Amino acid sequence: MCGIVGYTGKNSAITPLIEGLRRLEYRGYDSAGIALGTSGKLFIEKRAGKLGNLESSLGDQLPSATSGIGHTRWATHGGPTDNNAHPHVDNEGKLAVIHNGIIENYNQLKAELQAKGHKFHSDTDTESVAHLLSDLRKEFNGDLPAAMREAVKTLRGSFTLLAVHADNPGVIVGVRRNSPLVLGVGDSEYFLASDVAAFIEYTKRAVELGQDEIVVITPTGFEITDLDGNAQTPREYQVTWDAEAAQKGGFSHFMLKEIFEQPKAVADTLIGRLTDNNQIELDELKMSDEEIRSLKKIVVIACGTAYHAGMIAKYAIEKWAQISVEVEIASEYRYRDPIIDAQTLVIAISQSGETMDTLMALRHAKAAGARVLAICNTNSSTIPRESDAVLYTHAGPEIAVASTKAFLTQVVAVYLIGLHLAQVRKELTDSEVADLYNELLALPAKIEAILETVEPLRALTRTFAKSSSVLFLGRNVGFPAALEGALKLKELAYMHAEGFAGGELKHGPIALIEEGTPVIAIVPAGHEHSLDEKMLSNIQEVKARGAQVIVIAEEGAEVTGATHVIRIPVAPALFQPVLATVPLQVFAYEMAIARGNDVDQPRNLAKSVTVE
Ligand code: F6R
Repeated sequence: MCGIVGYTGKNSAITPLIEGLRRLEYRGYDSAGIALGTSGKLFIEKRAGKLGNLESSLGDQLPSATSGIGHTRWATHGGPTDNNAHPHVDNEGKLAVIHNGIIENYNQLKAELQAKGHKFHSDTDTESVAHLLSDLRKEFNGDLPAAMREAVKTLRGSFTLLAVHADNPGVIVGVRRNSPLVLGVGDSEYFLASDVAAFIEYTKRAVELGQDEIVVITPTGFEITDLDGNAQTPREYQVTWDAEAAQKGGFSHFMLKEIFEQPKAVADTLIGRLTDNNQIELDELKMSDEEIRSLKKIVVIACGTAYHAGMIAKYAIEKWAQISVEVEIASEYRYRDPIIDAQTLVIAISQSGETMDTLMALRHAKAAGARVLAICNTNSSTIPRESDAVLYTHAGPEIAVASTKAFLTQVVAVYLIGLHLAQVRKELTDSEVADLYNELLALPAKIEAILETVEPLRALTRTFAKSSSVLFLGRNVGFPAALEGALKLKELAYMHAEGFAGGELKHGPIALIEEGTPVIAIVPAGHEHSLDEKMLSNIQEVKARGAQVIVIAEEGAEVTGATHVIRIPVAPALFQPVLATVPLQVFAYEMAIARGNDVDQPRNLAKSVTVE
C-alpha cells in the first residue's frame, strides 16, 4: 500500500506532488509527507493523518522547487505518527527516501547501520534504506543511481523506493520489486508514481517499469537500467482514461459516483462480445478451442470482493461449461500444495492488479505449471503483466476504497468466460449462448432502474443506524452476494455483519438473531430447486425469532414474512447478483453516512493492498 509520487521538470513541484498524492490517497491515508529539492538542502514536511493535515502545515511558506517526492502512507511498521511518516532522511538530512512495501530484513540492516553510528528516528523499516543509501552514495562518489542499484541487492521484501539528494535535487531515483511504480513522460517534466492517476492531468504517456529496474528522472529525460547498470528499452503506453473520470463529478462521494457508474461499466465490459453468427468473442483468453476442450479444472484466486466474484464464477462456469471450478482465497492458496497441471486454468481476479496476496498466489500457480488468466481493471498493472492472458474489465478508475463497479464488471467478465467455454465445449448451443448474452446486455438498464428507485432504501437504511449487527442471507449465487453485502457493511459502517448461505442458518448462525436484528435476505430468482421457497422458509425462521427482515426479491416474486421488500428487475437466476448487489451497496453507503463515517476512505483500509 502507500502512494508514491515524484516530480522533476520545468514547473513548480508542489502542485503535481500534492495533486498526485490526493489521487493516490486511496492507497493509504494515515500520514503524508513531501521532500522538495532546493539548492543544497531538502525541505521536508510530514504529518500524521490525512493529506489535509500536511497541506495545513505547509501553509504558504514553501520554498520554490522544481523537483520533489511525496508519500501517502498506510502504516505497516510503526504507527501513524509524524515521525513514522515518510520521507525518511539520512543523518545529514540531505538524502530522502519514500517507500511502499516492506523491507523484510530491516532489523538486521538497522543493527548494522546503528553499529556504524547511524541514529534512527522512527520505528519504520524504511528509515534503514535512507541510512544505507547514504553510506553507499558516499562509496560511489555521490552517484545516487549506483547507490540504489547496490542497495537493492541487499534488500529483501517488496518495495517501491524513490530517493533524492540535496546536492542534485533534480535527479530522482526509483526502483520497484513486487510493488507498483510507473513513469510518466510529460513535456520537459517527468513523473514517477504508484499509479498513473497521480499524473494523468499532466500526461497520458506512461512507461512500464519491470522488476528490479532502476529508473532515473531528471528535468531533461529519463533512463532505465537493470541492477547491473545495463540500459533497458522503455515500454511506453498511452493511458486511456482521463482526469475527469477520476473526479467526483457532482456526487458527494466517489463511492456514490461509482455506484451510479455501474450501468456504463457493465455495458462497457460487455460491448462487442457476440459475433454476427452468435459466437462469444474472447480472443484475450489466448486459448485454442482444443486447449479449452481439454481443460480439466479452473481455479479462481482472489481476495475480498474479487473473491466473491470468483464464487459467482463457480456457479456459472460449472453450470454452463461443466468444468469443475475451485475458488481460493489468494492468501491461503499460496501456502498450500495445489494440485495443478497444464490442463488447469487459474483465473486471478483483481481490480487493482497489484494485490500482493493475489500476485503471490498467481506466481505459485504458474510455478506449479498452470496457465493463468487475469481479470483486471488496471491496465499494465503487475497481475496482468505476469499472467499468460488478461481480460480487462472496463469499470474505469475506481477511487473509493470499497469496491462497487469493479465487482459488477468482474462478475460480468466471469459470465463471458463461462459462456465462451460452454460454447467451445458445446455444452450450450449457439442460440442458448446468444440468449444469455442478450440477457447480459439487458442488465445495465436494469441496474439503472434500481438506481432510480433507491431513495426509499436510503431512508429505510437510516432507521437501522443504531443496530449492532446485520445478517445477510442468500442461496446459490445469492450467497456470494450476501457475503459481499456483509463485507461492504463491515468496511463502511464498521458494524458487525455476516453473510450466510440460507441453508446454513439452522446449523448455528440462527443463534445470533435477537429481537430487532436486521436480516437482509435475497430471494433467489426463478424456481429452480425451489430455492425461492426455501429462502421464504428461512425468512419465516428468523422472523419467528424477532428479526426485522428486509427482503430483496425480483418483481412479481411471492414474498411472505418480510418487514420491508426491495424489488429488483427480473433476470436469469445466475445473473441476479449483478442486480441484488446494488441495493446492498446503497445500504452500506447510506449506513456509513448515517453513522458519520468516512465513506471513501474507511478506517484501517487501503484501496490497493500491496503487502501480504
Ligand atoms: C472491498 C475491497 C477489497 C478488494 C480486495 C482485492 O470493497 O475493495 O476486498 O476487493 O482487497 O482487491 P483487488 O481487486 O484490487 O485485488
